[in-house]
Amino acid sequence: MRLHDCHNFHDFRRLAKRRLPGPIFNYIDGAADDEVTYRRNTAAFETCDLLPSVLRGVQTVDLSVSVMGQRLALPFYCSPTALQRLFHHDGERAVAAAAGKFGTMFGVSSLGTVSLEEARAISSGPQVYQFYFHRDRGLNREMMARAKEAGVEVMMLTVDSITGGNRERDKRTGFAIPFRLNAAGIAQFAVKPGWAINHFRHEKFKLPQLDSHVDMGSGTVSISRYFTEMLDPSMNWDDVAEMVAHWNGRFCLKGVMTVEDAKRAVDIGCTGIVLSNHGGRQLDGSRSAFDQLAEIVDAVGDRIDVMMDGGVQRGTHVLKALSLGAKAVGLGRYYLFALAAAGQPGVERALELMRSEIERSMRLMGCAEIGDLSRSNLRFR
Ligand SMILES: Cc1cc2nc3c(=O)[nH]c(=O)nc-3n(C[C@H](O)[C@H](O)[C@H](O)COP(=O)(O)O)c2cc1C
Repeated sequence: MRLHDCHNFHDFRRLAKRRLPGPIFNYIDGAADDEVTYRRNTAAFETCDLLPSVLRGVQTVDLSVSVMGQRLALPFYCSPTALQRLFHHDGERAVAAAAGKFGTMFGVSSLGTVSLEEARAISSGPQVYQFYFHRDRGLNREMMARAKEAGVEVMMLTVDSITGGNRERDKRTGFAIPFRLNAAGIAQFAVKPGWAINHFRHEKFKLPQLDSHVDMGSGTVSISRYFTEMLDPSMNWDDVAEMVAHWNGRFCLKGVMTVEDAKRAVDIGCTGIVLSNHGGRQLDGSRSAFDQLAEIVDAVGDRIDVMMDGGVQRGTHVLKALSLGAKAVGLGRYYLFALAAAGQPGVERALELMRSEIERSMRLMGCAEIGDLSRSNLRFR
């Protein structure tokens, strides 16, 4: 199976599985506890159907949107994800370049493996910097100053991760950073020598957003210790209000799920919220963002940009979310599997497939621009 045989999410996932050592594939593919939320995220899109309007004379289709003051050529973006150079040696460089080529936004994670400054220089599209709230308030301010200096357009604070989710697949394989594999995990690396040769031939693995700040003794950052020792579980609305004021620019909360919290985000001056359950990787049993979208758009959609992510695998999923009032939709595993499958050409192919699926579906729906989509296009079963 090659890149040109990949026509959808499932094909990229299959190719990624073939290329990656089992523990790494399962780190991407896995979620928390029984993975109920992970499955629901995609299933939720099947609870409603699209209603096309015909004979509308759609000549051209404009897929551009405005979100958080950014003009995007496409109504979807690459959500920030950790550790991308583990999945492919080009990691964030590939994603930043591909997103820029397609005129869309991408996020660099605090746990990214390429510096936010380097990513900023690669991509011509808007960049989000995703960060977590540290106990050390000086460090939080320092990270914001660094992002500002680099020209990051939007700060995105992830609020659903004050502790790590229970990822049982990782426990079974022993996946951790630095690697602490068990015998079964090591055996799974041994059967993918191609990945290992590539990985070790390229520059040393590091976490450039953190390594100048964090000394974990041996000089390496253990991610589980990062979550338990560095992050501040007492973070509250007052703390975040202070950060929003300090940033004094576009600020977004990722992981808001209730109307009440969405209203508070408006009150403290946020520009956007992303409804998200972290791809089902944190609180299993939590609602899917798509199921929760209409309620939140109705409550705050005229005062803040509402986005969503989780389970998006098809252009029609994006269309359904936009019809309910999302301003843009985040992709996670969709582009990560493509990255793992084939690096930058893989991500580009995935973005192009998503773009063309949306364009085709817009034509079939009788819509020439994203603003033409509305709830009248949807019926829940
Ligand atoms: C491997 C992996 C790593 C992730 N790392 C981060 C991260 O560092 N910060 C963050 O806010 N979200 C992270 N996420 C969550 C994504 O940003 C996004 O919310 C989620 O993947 C959307 O669900 P989907 O994968 O079903 O599209 C990660 C997701 C995956 C799959």
